[in-house]
Amino acid sequence: MWPFPRIIAHRGGGTLAPENTLAAMRCGLEHGFRAVEFDVMLAADGIPVLMHDPVFGRTIAATGSVPESTAQQLAAMDAGAWFDARYAGEPVPTFLQVIDYCNANGIWMNVEIKPAPGFEAETGRAAAQLLRQHLPEGGRTPLFSSFSADALRAAKQAAPEIPRGFLSSTVPDDLAAIMQDLGAVALHTNHKHVTPEQVRAIKTQGYGVFCYTVNEPERAREILSWGVDAFCTDRIDLIGPDFS
Ligand code: G3P
Ligand code: MG
Repeated sequence: MWPFPRIIAHRGGGTLAPENTLAAMRCGLEHGFRAVEFDVMLAADGIPVLMHDPVFGRTIAATGSVPESTAQQLAAMDAGAWFDARYAGEPVPTFLQVIDYCNANGIWMNVEIKPAPGFEAETGRAAAQLLRQHLPEGGRTPLFSSFSADALRAAKQAAPEIPRGFLSSTVPDDLAAIMQDLGAVALHTNHKHVTPEQVRAIKTQGYGVFCYTVNEPERAREILSWGVDAFCTDRIDLIGPDFS
């Protein structure tokens, strides 16, 4: 049985708000979502912040990178203007700010550990150490995920009690060995590559299946019919939190 939410707002507010910001978390909540996925990376001073790309340019109009900038410098950067002028000045939030927001509003977190290259274990460790100190009281346990096995291994060591999902764009041949090594409870995989047979096989082995990123209701219905446990979506306007 999948103990986590089934429909998850990707990067906070999907396509409706600047990704990985507090504004995105508010947008998801306004659309009824109490389950969110976001990306966590380490700033230069070891503080985990929300960010997808290590190098600036796409969401931050600057040169440089996250691992070269402190959390304070990142907080002064504009992570909203790229999306829409009405979000200008929206800062890069720290992971702690987002944990606090989610806990205060009863929002479940799928924390994707997204290390900048070379910072895999450090990022997993820092994210896990912080989250374990701020677990929601009486709320549902959050779920870590990462494409980086090193990051998940470090998270496991720092906070074994917080469950982990392994992210892989395709189903690895040696899935069982990986899942065992990481103590992972679920495979998070690209819905574009997975087959109903693979979903069945993974679930038979006792693991959950989470798909990213499903933006068409018809496709969402199809993968749910295969037994996929959960998915994240950018189209929180088309696919609501109670979608089935
Ligand atoms: O966690 C699911 C999904 O977010 C993984 O890909 O690149 O959107 O972080 P990405
Ligand atoms: Mg992500």
